[in-house]
Amino acid sequence: MEVVITPTAAGGAALVADAVVALLARRPAAVLGLATGSSPLGVYRELVERCRAGRVSFRAARAFLLDEYVGLPPAAPQAYARVIRRDLTDALDLAPGAVDGPDGAAVDVPGECARYEAALAAAGGVDLQLLGIGTDGHVGFNEPGSSLASRTRLKTLTRRTRTDNARFFGGDPDAVPRHVLTQGLGTLLDARHLVLLASGEAKAAAVAAAVEGPVSASCPASVLQLHPHATVVLDDAAASRLAGADHHRETWAGKPAWQGL
Ligand code: GLP
Repeated sequence: MEVVITPTAAGGAALVADAVVALLARRPAAVLGLATGSSPLGVYRELVERCRAGRVSFRAARAFLLDEYVGLPPAAPQAYARVIRRDLTDALDLAPGAVDGPDGAAVDVPGECARYEAALAAAGGVDLQLLGIGTDGHVGFNEPGSSLASRTRLKTLTRRTRTDNARFFGGDPDAVPRHVLTQGLGTLLDARHLVLLASGEAKAAAVAAAVEGPVSASCPASVLQLHPHATVVLDDAAASRLAGADHHRETWAGKPAWQGL
């Protein structure tokens, strides 16, 4: 696992955008794994800017979402399928139909989860998966206790996650859906490159558990330790509880630029 610490989240976002641009340059039909939430927003702003400036094209690319709420009305602004359009994909030059996500309104939930896994496989798997981390260590919506081998399925959110996400639901944790569909931790491990972004002091404990704690279902993000190409991009505040922070800073400073992330 590579840990990259930048003084500000904006610096990390630019590095991750560089990695996406480099991927698309060598593989225009790349498959991107997109996350919602605040953590990747800086990366999305960079990508939109660079696409508008003609420095990158997503014309041949495809994208898959990590997760979705179950039971929201179709037009709900909080639905991740809508959030990602607003935050990113509507502003890119992706082909129509290039973005897929688990359908939180599906009547046949196991069938929808199987469809999604099959769609990911048919696309050849994800080249670069963006991830955030919850304050309880969740990735996607894989809450603590999630099997490290899990696949796309229905999960129940913890009270803590519903409280964290209440800001998108008028501040009311009870307005946050109880259930979600999410790629599993085993699904995520199939991506060729995992890039987790975290910023701010509120994420520092979860980041330390994920990076320096044991690999454990109790901290789902610790599954990144099992992946051959996992990158954790942090600002100083999110890295503040890492015992190895200085080592990571030194390693990054000495890394040959051609290697990228
Ligand atoms: C949500 C999402 C995750 C996201 C996490 C952190 O629950 N399902 O994909 O990583 O929260 O969110 P944020 O980036 O807004 O802190």
